[in-house]
Amino acid sequence: MSLCWLDGTIVPGEEARVSVFDHGLLYGDGVFEGIRFYQRQPFRLQAHLQRLQQSARAIKLTLPYTLGELATAIHDLIQAYAQPDGYLRLVITRGKGTLGVNPNSCRRATTFIIADSLTAVEPRVRQRGASLIIAATRRLSPDGLDPRVKSLNYLNHVLARIEANHAKADEAILLNAQGHVSEGTTDNVFIVRDGSLLTPPVTDGALDGVTRSVIMALAKAQGIASAETTLSAYDLYTADECFLTGTAMELIPVREIDGRELSACPGPVFQLLQAAFMNRIQDEVRYAVLERAAS
Ligand SMILES: Cc1ncc(COP(=O)(O)O)c(C=O)c1O
Repeated sequence: MSLCWLDGTIVPGEEARVSVFDHGLLYGDGVFEGIRFYQRQPFRLQAHLQRLQQSARAIKLTLPYTLGELATAIHDLIQAYAQPDGYLRLVITRGKGTLGVNPNSCRRATTFIIADSLTAVEPRVRQRGASLIIAATRRLSPDGLDPRVKSLNYLNHVLARIEANHAKADEAILLNAQGHVSEGTTDNVFIVRDGSLLTPPVTDGALDGVTRSVIMALAKAQGIASAETTLSAYDLYTADECFLTGTAMELIPVREIDGRELSACPGPVFQLLQAAFMNRIQDEVRYAVLERAAS
């Protein structure tokens, strides 16, 4: 059963209520983070909180809590949650205001954190690999909304996902206005070419993913060359390997893109990085458990 921390009070998720006048709901005016926890320890909490702070700053939204207070709220919620492993959705909206887009009518931001289990990725997709389509829907241009802002505006990602559903594919990749690969609907994309790991730069519309950074650091530690570089649909179709990364999905290998089967799925670089990623989580969780016990 889900639980929700809503501005200081923990209630069952089903009972948490926000106003219909909240600008997060009316205008998508707000920011959020998705955070995993393992053995009651949030993974890479500081990176998520920092990204949240930057997103809020970029849209001129004053956080109603310090990052320390948010971290405490998260720890309290995780302790109260029934399962040791799960997923958190931390949302900060502009708050309750009047009808009208002007945020000046919102006196205080609304903050809620939902703890729940994840059902986003079917085990079949994890094992066999995902089928992707390149969506006709394009990523919003950075001069409309900077892709580094993790905002509540996901409509063009939703439209891309509808295209994937219609094509009976597991996920959609969005291109930017120039036709360069940006990202999936809730994930970053990587390819392997001639032993090197390549991923689109944030300037092409990729979110600066927390999992993406962990994977690039792990690749470096394993001696795998990696680079942020502009990619086209052709690069994806002809890759040796392709995989997706994100907090919710962790790492998922890609089997085919627009009907083009990739030669290796899961490929050797994916398998190496996935093992390294799982070890990394275990190590960080073990360390956090010891540190908490000592404090
Ligand atoms: C659009 C988008 N891209 C990429 C990601 C992956 O980011 P992270 O690894 O920080 O979860 C997400 C995750 O929420 C996302 O929504």
